[in-house]
Amino acid sequence: MGSRSSSEITSKPIGIFDSGVGGLTVVRAVMRELPNESIVYFGDTARVPYGNKSTATIRRFAAEIVELLIEEGVKLIVIACNTVASNAREYLMDNYSVKFVDVIAPTVEAAIRVTKGKIGVIGTKATIGSGCYMRLIKKLAPNVEVIQKPTPLLVPFIEERHYNHTLDTLLEDYLRELRDAKIDTLLLGCTHYPLIKERIERIIGDEVVVIDSSHYTAKKVKAILQQHSMVNETAKPSHKFYFSDIPVDLPKLAHDFLGIEIEPYLKVLG
Ligand code: DGL
Repeated sequence: MGSRSSSEITSKPIGIFDSGVGGLTVVRAVMRELPNESIVYFGDTARVPYGNKSTATIRRFAAEIVELLIEEGVKLIVIACNTVASNAREYLMDNYSVKFVDVIAPTVEAAIRVTKGKIGVIGTKATIGSGCYMRLIKKLAPNVEVIQKPTPLLVPFIEERHYNHTLDTLLEDYLRELRDAKIDTLLLGCTHYPLIKERIERIIGDEVVVIDSSHYTAKKVKAILQQHSMVNETAKPSHKFYFSDIPVDLPKLAHDFLGIEIEPYLKVLG
């Protein structure tokens, strides 16, 4: 029976956050998978990138964002940033009672389903340095070989919308080692990378399956909401997009990531 309190919970928004605009790839997938859900997004554009920061700083920034989303009354929080998920997930779960979903486990599970035995992982320095992907893949599939490669310059290129031959040269450099090692699956361990997925696929070659986190994370969000009877079946959704800075390129970038126009609101943290 739908009690008043359960309908109060189902109508609450989902919180989704990232260090910047990358998490909008996850927002896009969640909107597709759960069209009745309202979303409150937070992108920490004033402090991006997180990928070259220390774990202590990443945790502090992430905690501030989680507190803001909790104040917004969200029913679940999606950590749509691999850098935060790999450096701060346990910390956040230990300190806040809200439900969390992050981009790592659903993507690893998807990669393990398709691999023939050799997975490559690319991500920011902080993500790869955390060893989080390596540990989880080895735990779930001990016989799978994992080859990791930090690719720290990709986020700045994407944020600059610098999609040209210089980016291809950089990708050639970054991916050579993984191609030479004959990986069969490449896991995109950063929510910015779906924007250049086609270039990555072209350079890594047809034989390699390239997996990004957005679709699998959205499926996981749906499964968790269903499991807790928290899916919003009826309402007309309304979304809010908060950013800690609104740089000039933000509307264009947000459109690249989300495919629709948004109205960005400034929310200064700290
Ligand atoms: N989008 C973030 C991630 O998934 C990376 C961007 C950053 O370095 O802040 O890791």
